[in-house]
Amino acid sequence: MRIGMLTSGGDCPGLNGTIRGFCKYIFNRFPDAEILGFKEGYAGLMNSDYMILHPADIDNILDKGGTILGSSRQPYKLMTVSENGAPTKLSQMVANYKALGLDYLITLGGAGTHKTASLLAVEGCKVIGCPKTIDDDLFGTDVTFGFETAVQTASDEIKRIRTTAESHSRVFFVEVMGNKVGWLTLHAGMAAGADAILIPEIPYDDDAIAAYVLARTKTARSTVIAVAEGVMSKAEAAMTKKTRKEYTAQMGSATARLVKSVRDRTGIECYATVLGHVQRGGEPCAYDKVITTEIGAYAASLVEKGISGVTVCVRGTRLAYNHLTEIAGKTRFVPSEGQLVSLCRSMGIFLGDQL
Ligand code: F6P
Repeated sequence: MRIGMLTSGGDCPGLNGTIRGFCKYIFNRFPDAEILGFKEGYAGLMNSDYMILHPADIDNILDKGGTILGSSRQPYKLMTVSENGAPTKLSQMVANYKALGLDYLITLGGAGTHKTASLLAVEGCKVIGCPKTIDDDLFGTDVTFGFETAVQTASDEIKRIRTTAESHSRVFFVEVMGNKVGWLTLHAGMAAGADAILIPEIPYDDDAIAAYVLARTKTARSTVIAVAEGVMSKAEAAMTKKTRKEYTAQMGSATARLVKSVRDRTGIECYATVLGHVQRGGEPCAYDKVITTEIGAYAASLVEKGISGVTVCVRGTRLAYNHLTEIAGKTRFVPSEGQLVSLCRSMGIFLGDQL
C-alpha cells in the first residue's frame, strides 16, 4: 500500500502529533506500507516533491510545533484555473496521485484544505482529511487540533497585558487571530478574564465601545479587551466586501481602528497589542497531543477499513467522520445568539454591540 500525506494551509501545534499517530498505526498494522510525505502541502503533490517517511522520522516529533513536512497556502479558487491552456493545479495533483500509484491521500488542514480535498475526492482520489486549525471553525467537528494550544498561548499573553495595564491604569485592545470567526478570541478572552470580547460574528458599535471605555476608566484601574483580528464595526459590516477590504487596508488592524475610534470619541489614548503568529507556534498542549494522536490513528483505521472521501471529526468525546462533500465550503461560526454568548452577556462581559 502507498499512502500520500500532506499538511496544508496555516500551520498549528499538533500537525506532527497527527502525522505520528497516523504513521505509527500504519507501520504497526501494515509493515510493508510506504508513506510519502509531500513537502509544503498541496505544492508537493503538484510537483511530486515528497520524502518517504520511515519510523525514525516520526520519533520524538510529538512535542514539536510546526510541521515536519512544511506547509503552504494554495488558494482553493486557483485550483481549477488553467493558465494559457496549461493543466490546472487540480489536474496536476490527480495525475501525480495516479502516477505515484497512491492508494490513499491524507490531508491535514483547515477549511481551504478541505475544499480542495473534496475536489480531489470527486476526481477519484481516495482522500481522508484531518481537522486542523487554531480557529476551530471547521464545519462538522466540535474540535480542531491546535485550537486548545492557541487558547492557552493567547490567554497567557492577555494575562501578561493585564499586569502592565493594571500598573499604569491603561486600556488595552489585544488582537487575537481569527479572521472570520471568534472562537479563539472568545475562549482566550474568557480564560484570561478579559473585560470585553469582540468577535467577527457580533459587529461592534463605535459609540458603545467609546462609552464603555469611558465608564471603565472612571471605575476600574485597567481594562483589557480581547479583539478578534476580523472584527468589524456596524458601519464596516454594512459595507460591501470590496469596500471593506479597501477601507481596512487603509485604516489598519482591528485594534488600530478601535484605538482611533475611541480616541476620536473620548480623547482617551488606548493601547493596541497584536499577538500574531506566536499563537500558531510552539509545543502543543497535552490535550492537543492526545487528540492529534487519536485523530491520526483514527484516520489510519479508516484506511484499514477502506473508507475514503471523508474527514475525521470529534463529536463530544468520540471520533467519527463526515463526508467531505457535505462539509466543504461551510464554516462553524460562533452562534451570536448561542448559550456561550448569552452567558457572557449575563456576566456583564461587554461584547461591543450594546451596553
Ligand atoms: O487560519 C489560521 C490563521 O491563523 C487565521 O487565524 C489567520 O487569520 C490566518 O491563519 C493568518 O494566515 P497567514 O499566516 O497566512 O497570514
